[in-house]
Amino acid sequence: MASFRFSVLVITISLVIVTAYSTLDADETIEFGYVGPKGPDKWGSLDPKFAVCADGKAQSPIDISRTKATPNNQLRALSRDYYSAGAKLVNNGFNIAVHFDSSAGTMNIDGKNYSLLQLHWHTPSEHTMDGKQLDAELQLVHKADDGSMSITGILYQVGNGDSFLGRVQKHLKELAKDKCGPNEHSEIPLGNLSTRQLKRSTRNYFRYTGSFTTPPCTENVTWIIFGKPSSMSQQQIDALKAPMEEAYKMNARPVQPDNGRPVNLHDEPKKV
Ligand SMILES: *[C@@H]1O[C@H](CO)[C@@H](O)[C@H](O)[C@H]1NC(C)=O
Ligand SMILES: *[C@@H]1O[C@H](CO)[C@@H](O)[C@H](O)[C@H]1NC(C)=O
Ligand SMILES: *[C@@H]1O[C@H](CO)[C@@H](O)[C@H](O)[C@H]1NC(C)=O
Repeated sequence: MASFRFSVLVITISLVIVTAYSTLDADETIEFGYVGPKGPDKWGSLDPKFAVCADGKAQSPIDISRTKATPNNQLRALSRDYYSAGAKLVNNGFNIAVHFDSSAGTMNIDGKNYSLLQLHWHTPSEHTMDGKQLDAELQLVHKADDGSMSITGILYQVGNGDSFLGRVQKHLKELAKDKCGPNEHSEIPLGNLSTRQLKRSTRNYFRYTGSFTTPPCTENVTWIIFGKPSSMSQQQIDALKAPMEEAYKMNARPVQPDNGRPVNLHDEPKKV
């Protein structure tokens, strides 16, 4: 009798172990979130590959202080040459993005060309300006041939509609019908998408060295933050949130310590 009980116990324990193991196995893509046990303050411990999210000394986003930024006349006007490219609208589960099939043009920084590969939105904004968080942030992700990364951040406040978002907005409705979880991915082909509206010029921008704002939080990203916010309508902000699961509708990582990193400012005088 005692031995029978013992085997039942062993079998039960094995089942518990097998169940626990297969749960881990099925969940191979480790997800991260913006609230609760997978929230930003836990990212560093969710996966060894995410360690820099917690240990990194040059993480993004940060607060951009206009008074503390250093005007730097070595910085040149932003030079961007974007063109139309095949694209798809993607729900990554943690944000909405446009992925280009091939480069949609280049941005030149210090003589080096960075190709525009994808762009995505965060609501509300991730970078803050003088402590103020705005309603949304568009991030344009560029990569140079040598692998270095540069991301342009444009902050938005509620106001007039944004014309680039206007072009993809009706497809957000289709994405919203096909809600997906953080480990899933759904996409809609957009055909040949014009990026002309993204070339909006800016007289001033901030530049600093930071990281990806989502795991694995890779550092050494050259960030360019437009000095002047843009606007999008409340309806557009709602449209960006509609396809997202409740826990990802607010998908801004909180600002990180700047650890004394310099923030440079390029400020062109007004043309007269
Ligand atoms: C995309 O559109 C542009 C003009 O808007 C055109 O020059 C280009 O050839 C098109 N590319 C494809 C692959 O259709
Ligand atoms: C960088 O991009 C510009 C604009 O597309 C192009 O004219 C230039 O030849 C490129 N430079 C290099 C080194 O690829
Ligand atoms: C960081 O990026 C710059 C170019 O932006 C590159 O020259 C440098 O080698 C990179 N440093 C590391 C540690 O990857």
